[in-house]
Amino acid sequence: MTKQTLPNDKPIMGKIVEKWEECFETYCFKIKLPVKVQGAKPGQFVMLWVPGEDEYPVGIAGLKDSILEVGIAKMGPGTEAMHKKGVGDLVGIRGFYGKPFTPPDDVNHLLIGGGFGMTPLKLLTETLMSIEKKQNIHVFEGARSKDRLMYLEWFRDLHNQGKINFHACTDDGSYGYQGFPTADLEIFLQESETPSVIYAAGPEKMMKAIFDLGRKYANVIDMQMSLADRYMRCGFGACSSCVVDPTGWRICVDGPIFNTEKLEKISDFGVYKRIETGEKKRI
Ligand SMILES: Cc1cc2nc3c(=O)[nH]c(=O)nc-3n(C[C@H](O)[C@H](O)[C@H](O)COP(=O)(O)OP(=O)(O)OC[C@H]3O[C@@H](n4cnc5c(N)ncnc54)[C@H](O)[C@@H]3O)c2cc1C
Ligand code: FES
Repeated sequence: MTKQTLPNDKPIMGKIVEKWEECFETYCFKIKLPVKVQGAKPGQFVMLWVPGEDEYPVGIAGLKDSILEVGIAKMGPGTEAMHKKGVGDLVGIRGFYGKPFTPPDDVNHLLIGGGFGMTPLKLLTETLMSIEKKQNIHVFEGARSKDRLMYLEWFRDLHNQGKINFHACTDDGSYGYQGFPTADLEIFLQESETPSVIYAAGPEKMMKAIFDLGRKYANVIDMQMSLADRYMRCGFGACSSCVVDPTGWRICVDGPIFNTEKLEKISDFGVYKRIETGEKKRI
């Protein structure tokens, strides 16, 4: 029987069936799950257990025939341990957790992000391509340099096949235009008269800049942003390590995707995040 989600009280072991170096210090993995499962939605996440090391949240880049795709950027011991795993190794997965992106019909879909934020945007792109025309899907990706653009070839191929519009930029000008993805987004918003929805995932400072930009344009009817650049412990609402002020929302169950209306209420957004001890630290 095909399930809509996985057991989320304890991890089930999946086997790595494919691994590749996607970009600078970032590896992607396909993990075969032992149960038939579908129904993962873009923006949701799983808890990945690397036995003997750590368990931490990661976004869902794809799920087909019970094979889960994830992309892991090197941060510290937990992500380094995953980078050492190879085909045939077992890792634990529990999920799917969190609220997904909810794209409406008949709008421009403007996906914008960087770093491991591109992981949920990859699955969102796939979902949108199955229902939308090319001219409505725009992906804006930014990175420090070309070798840090995640899924560059994947997005470029889709652009060349006429399925999406891909706009890339780098801080050093080594690929695309030199600058931040907000520059191209702003040009698009100035020229477009159709209602648009912005979906963002990446470093929170970047998302705050996108949010402030989007608020200036009346044709932006909603913004949906992933607050995944934050610390989480349990992933299912029990420990409060991911709480934001002043609403008390837990990112893992009330998010990680929040829309304009909710983001406006989170005074922590783009300003403070909690560290492992629960203390708040300026972003
Ligand atoms: C909803 C969500 C989705 C995520 N998706 C991805 C993804 O698709 N790919 C990816 O590479 N990373 C993702 N992350 C971030 C990833 O969980 C952390 O980078 C990872 O836990 C770091 O662990 P570490 O031991 O390698 O580094 P550490 O040395 O432990 O930490 C390095 C940094 O990561 C933060 N961090 C540590 N543990 C966690 C944790 N449990 N939750 C969140 N942040 C943590 C620390 O505060 C520190 O800033 C996601 C985080 C969240 C909350
Ligand atoms: S991570 Fe435990 S409540 Fe969100």
